[in-house]
Amino acid sequence: MFSSTYNELIDINKMKEVIQQAHLRYLSRIDVFEKIDSTNTYLMQQAKKEAPVGSVCIAEVQTAGRGRRGRVWDSPSGNIYCSLLWSFQPQPPALPSLSIAIAVMIARVLKSYGVQNGLELKWPNDILFSGRKLAGILIEIVKDKLIIGFGINIIRTEEQDRISLEELLGQPVARHYLIGMVLDELIRALPFFQRGGLNSFIREWQALDVLQGKKMTVQAPQYQLIGVAQGINERGELQVKALTGELHVFSVGEISCRVL
Ligand code: BTN
Repeated sequence: MFSSTYNELIDINKMKEVIQQAHLRYLSRIDVFEKIDSTNTYLMQQAKKEAPVGSVCIAEVQTAGRGRRGRVWDSPSGNIYCSLLWSFQPQPPALPSLSIAIAVMIARVLKSYGVQNGLELKWPNDILFSGRKLAGILIEIVKDKLIIGFGINIIRTEEQDRISLEELLGQPVARHYLIGMVLDELIRALPFFQRGGLNSFIREWQALDVLQGKKMTVQAPQYQLIGVAQGINERGELQVKALTGELHVFSVGEISCRVL
């Protein structure tokens, strides 16, 4: 694949080399920071000041990187932290299904970058490799726009629950190309989602769905359930068959779940 040296800074011109010409014009503005609190937070502030759709923020380090469910996203130098401001007209889509579609888009890019057996998707949008977290996605709404933030672990980490791309590929990763490939895929595939919802994504999700058929506990606001995961429905909701045989359907944000 592409080569780069460790700790090479992100080169925007090289990043643009892998973005199709027709897609480049959607990227209205690209801000790159050595250090920022969070690329999502930055774009949220910019969106309130009417920043154009297609604005991108990339950072070398995040001092207050944010994960889902209010968690901290540890953001040292060397990984990928990027956010894109986007909009769907006439109205924003349902977030659960969008987050599924975006996880599939990023998985496609990781596959084409060389990540093969071991790549897994965990509802609602975790990207794992053999059970360890490789990438995360944080989608947020501001006014009528969306911020699609993604972080990809590139450099080796001591944390057992995370894995890095360099570790699993066994070679340095050219971050500018990888970011470019993700942005290119987002711009190419988001219109498919807008037109057909999960139609163009659900099969790939199913092929990588790590929860499928697993026995798990689900902690919902009012009750706890033990059941077997039955994949997602067309709205991107998780289906779990309780031991009593009933099918329960859960939306993002409603629950936390753990494989038994
Ligand atoms: C998760 O909890 O899995 C989501 C992690 C999302 C991290 C990315 S890094 C770029 C963007 N900026 C943030 O503060 N978070 C997202």
